[in-house]
Amino acid sequence: MEWAGKRVLVTGGAGFIGSHLSAKLLSLGAHVTVIDDLSAGDMERVPNGVSIIEGCITDSASLTNAMQSSDAIFHLAAIASVPLCEADPAWSDKVNLQASLEIISTADCPVIFASSAAIYGEPVEIPINENHPITPVGHYGQQKAAIDAQIRSLGSQSTPASALRFFNVYGAGQDPSSQYSGVLSIFIERATTGGQLSIFGDGEQTRDFIHVSDVVQALLLVGSSLADEGVSSPAHASAFNICTGSPVTLNQVVQVISSQVEGESPIVYEPSREGDIKHSSGDSTKLQSTFDWRPETSLADGLSSLISQAN
Ligand code: NAD
Ligand code: UD1
Repeated sequence: MEWAGKRVLVTGGAGFIGSHLSAKLLSLGAHVTVIDDLSAGDMERVPNGVSIIEGCITDSASLTNAMQSSDAIFHLAAIASVPLCEADPAWSDKVNLQASLEIISTADCPVIFASSAAIYGEPVEIPINENHPITPVGHYGQQKAAIDAQIRSLGSQSTPASALRFFNVYGAGQDPSSQYSGVLSIFIERATTGGQLSIFGDGEQTRDFIHVSDVVQALLLVGSSLADEGVSSPAHASAFNICTGSPVTLNQVVQVISSQVEGESPIVYEPSREGDIKHSSGDSTKLQSTFDWRPETSLADGLSSLISQAN
């Protein structure tokens, strides 16, 4: 679809992925509205020209106000941290589950939902494709899995909707300041300032890191298809992995980062995090064969670019 002139709502648009998506939509000529409670977001990240509603998606009045007259909704607002959801599952149930259900059931335009690789839990087969069993280990994964399943159960009378299962997303603008931030942003910030790199577990856990620009491209392709074809879109009531298929261990990542920065940072091994999965490696063949999508930024290039920005 032509995004120019379309009214697009991005929930969680002051967050890491949402702010990249909002900037891209704006550059394509869309009228972008963001709803964000700023619990993890930062209005400074939201580009000029985007309308901002500072509000919580659990508040029905704010949500209805944000959703009205939208041509498409990218639903990214969530407590995105696995340990934070473990710490307060009742609140993450309200945000990640109940509010998401409300969005899907009341929207009268396409909804593109930020699902997660966390829904697969500990893999029984690698790489993980979309037919892998859904066995999440923690609250975050369980809540994402429930919305993902709800979307896949939608019929032809419902609003068009799709679930995109992001693996570990990284890129510029990912906040490194909290222990709950994405690991690459934390490690790069620490390595470039001489701080300590804490590896939770033995560092042999694998992650499939996907660059945020590739994620934004996937969101736009799926959103366009739903907007153009409605419930006839191959994306409707379907879920897609968004990943590279090239996993790395944390130990490997630390080695690459250390080799590209000056000075030495202490590396300390700490106990594994509760709710953590050991291995994550995805297969994105379904998205690649349904839409013309390929991951374009390699981890080596993405890391180099982040490190040179941080230096
Ligand atoms: P983020 O924390 O940077 O962004 C989430 C945004 O949602 C934040 O700006 C936060 O303030 C906002 N938010 C949280 N609770 C809210 C509420 N109750 N009302 C309104 N706004 C609220 O996280 P991100 O990395 O940009 O993730 C975006 C989405 O993608 C999330 O749904 C996350 O679960 C999902 N996801 C992220 C990754 C990743 O690796 N970053 C991987 C898989 C899935
Ligand atoms: C991430 C996302 C989550 C998403 C999931 C999909 C974030 C904050 N979380 O979860 O939204 O659904 O991917 O796969 O982006 N670690 C350290 N040291 C640190 C920080 C982390 O060793 O200082 C370890 C963690 O224990 C974990 C790995 O690094 O084993 C990745 O952690 P993190 O970046 O928080 O992401 P996930 O938990 O995989």
